[in-house]
Amino acid sequence: MRAHLITLLANTILATSITQLSNFTNYVDIENSALRPNGHILLTTFDQGRLYTLNPLSDSPQAELVASLPGATALCGIAAIANDKFAIVGGVRGHYHYTNETVYTVDFSMDAVNPSVHAVARLPNASMLNGLSSMPKQPHIILIGDSRLGAIFRVDTTTGISRLAFKHDLLAAPTNASLPIGVNGLKVVDDYVLFTNSARNIFAHIRVSADGLHFGDVEIVARLDSSSGSDWDDFIVDSAGVAYVAQPDNAIARVMPGGTHSVIAGGGSSEEVKEPTSVQLANGGRSIYVTTRGDGKKVSGQVLEIQLLR
Ligand SMILES: *[C@@H]1O[C@H](CO)[C@@H](O)[C@H](O)[C@H]1NC(C)=O
Ligand SMILES: *[C@@H]1O[C@H](CO)[C@@H](O)[C@H](O)[C@H]1NC(C)=O
Ligand SMILES: *[C@@H]1O[C@H](CO)[C@@H](O)[C@H](O)[C@H]1NC(C)=O
Ligand SMILES: *[C@@H]1O[C@H](CO)[C@@H](O)[C@H](O)[C@H]1NC(C)=O
Repeated sequence: MRAHLITLLANTILATSITQLSNFTNYVDIENSALRPNGHILLTTFDQGRLYTLNPLSDSPQAELVASLPGATALCGIAAIANDKFAIVGGVRGHYHYTNETVYTVDFSMDAVNPSVHAVARLPNASMLNGLSSMPKQPHIILIGDSRLGAIFRVDTTTGISRLAFKHDLLAAPTNASLPIGVNGLKVVDDYVLFTNSARNIFAHIRVSADGLHFGDVEIVARLDSSSGSDWDDFIVDSAGVAYVAQPDNAIARVMPGGTHSVIAGGGSSEEVKEPTSVQLANGGRSIYVTTRGDGKKVSGQVLEIQLLR
């Protein structure tokens, strides 16, 4: 009883204030995010293939349109592949299936306002590309999780060559899952691919070679109790290996490297963090930015800042 109370207290003081930095005035679902070297946040959305940028440090941050990526209705994973250059995956969104899955590059290094945008690869065999990460030692190589195929595609953003690099049951949703989304968030950290699987409620890792071609065994790091009614979406990992995970419907979870995990913001009947979709580290790890999707009706996607206490 007492230990339980202390845990609760520890959890509540871990996150202090939750502030809405910005929201869209029209209806927009924010799906994912990436930080630019200048601290601005790039936002991928389900809004007609539109990519937005937001300066979180301005007085009243508002998302500004960067570009509409041609041929996509929805954008998902995004990651830096060079200085101020990003790879983004998008396609034509259907019912748990995308067509025209395409990898784009958006390069701000020559022009900070009007970046050059290119479609660099098409993946006709993909079904639902989601989380995306670049290989730390060869950043022009990216890995993208496919939530429906239970697979990881590898794309060389320089040549446009793609291949299905790894397939595993633990990357897929079980066939009887009510939410048919397997691998969701995906990040390469050192020699490991870290990922969440929404339907299986797991956070797991796989050893990977530096070139993104060879994969080891899938090892489960943490499991979310399925009776929680939640699942795990995208996440960010800090320099100590601690993951901050978007946990729809209404929380942010923290997963320690050993697998212990707890809710550090939102949760319960709280309305403060609704439908979080991705997380970024801010202020040298003292806070996090969280993006959200809307409620499907009126409440639009938001960017929140959550102060962390250690
Ligand atoms: C999808 O790709 C096909 C072939 O590249 C193209 O003909 C079609 O117009 C694209 N669809 C959309 C909605 O962009
Ligand atoms: C799609 O998959 C088929 C069957 O495995 C393969 O032959 C083909 O090369 C793949 N296409 C691409 C563009 O990867
Ligand atoms: C799916 O099947 C597994 C194994 O038979 C079972 O344990 C699980 O409860 C089922 N899940 C759903 C959502 O039906
Ligand atoms: C944006 O946020 C403000 C302040 O919380 C809220 O009043 C408004 O309804 C929100 N707008 C949308 C479209 O979600």
